[in-house]
Amino acid sequence: MDIILLGPPGAGKGTQAQRLVDEHAMRQLSTGDMLRGAVAAGTPIGREAKAVMDRGELVSDEIVSALIDAELFAMGTGTGAIFDGYPRTEAQAQALDAILAKHGRSLDHVIELEVDEEALVERITGRFTCAECGTGYHDRFNRPAVTDTCDVCGAHSFKRRPDDNAETVRTRMALYRSETAPILPHYEGRGIVARVDGMAPIAEVTRAIDAILGR
Ligand code: AP5
Repeated sequence: MDIILLGPPGAGKGTQAQRLVDEHAMRQLSTGDMLRGAVAAGTPIGREAKAVMDRGELVSDEIVSALIDAELFAMGTGTGAIFDGYPRTEAQAQALDAILAKHGRSLDHVIELEVDEEALVERITGRFTCAECGTGYHDRFNRPAVTDTCDVCGAHSFKRRPDDNAETVRTRMALYRSETAPILPHYEGRGIVARVDGMAPIAEVTRAIDAILGR
């Protein structure tokens, strides 16, 4: 089963994708994570993407679509993909159709997390991840069970994203409204779009997504 998780920055796409990976052995394909990996590794793509990401703007359609194509090629068949943060423009939605067809795959669901934008700034500025295994947490909504200790790997160091500041978040939200939300009609006609209340508690959002997936 291949699905897209759609929603503005901080809507909970990464949080829910992580749960689907843990519970249903699906694979998370996050273009944001791939780009951050490229930045950390200092690759040519990473060097090109860093300044764009720090400003909260969009990296080129060609780069992100090539990253997705390569990941799907490496994955092979048999494992469901969760597209997290991709596609983000009409050109990317069209590229994804072609990439999926090339790999003999098709989309089963596009799940939009509906959220109150005002609450997202708090979500994003309170977010942090384990520096070792990448598990996501939040200062208020999703703290580790033991202070300063990762629930998953026991590490004690955590990090915050450089683009998780109020000013950049506003740019990312504006781009979601102008570039990403308009791709929904691309999928509406296929009858595969479902909407979930992303303001509900994390576990409730997971249950709503599971119900859509029939799990
Ligand atoms: P990316 O990494 O994709 O960032 P984003 O879309 O802005 O989304 P976020 O990761 O910020 O939010 P999320 O929805 O995953 O929320 P999360 O689950 O963490 O992209 C970063 C940058 O890379 C872009 O700005 C762009 O430059 C570039 N890029 C990436 N993909 C691209 C593409 N396709 N094309 C072009 N450029 C691209 O949740 C947030 C916090 O809230 C967490 O702390 C979590 O614990 C908490 N939380 C989650 N759900 C709930 C809930 N229900 N209740 C309370 N708290 C919650």
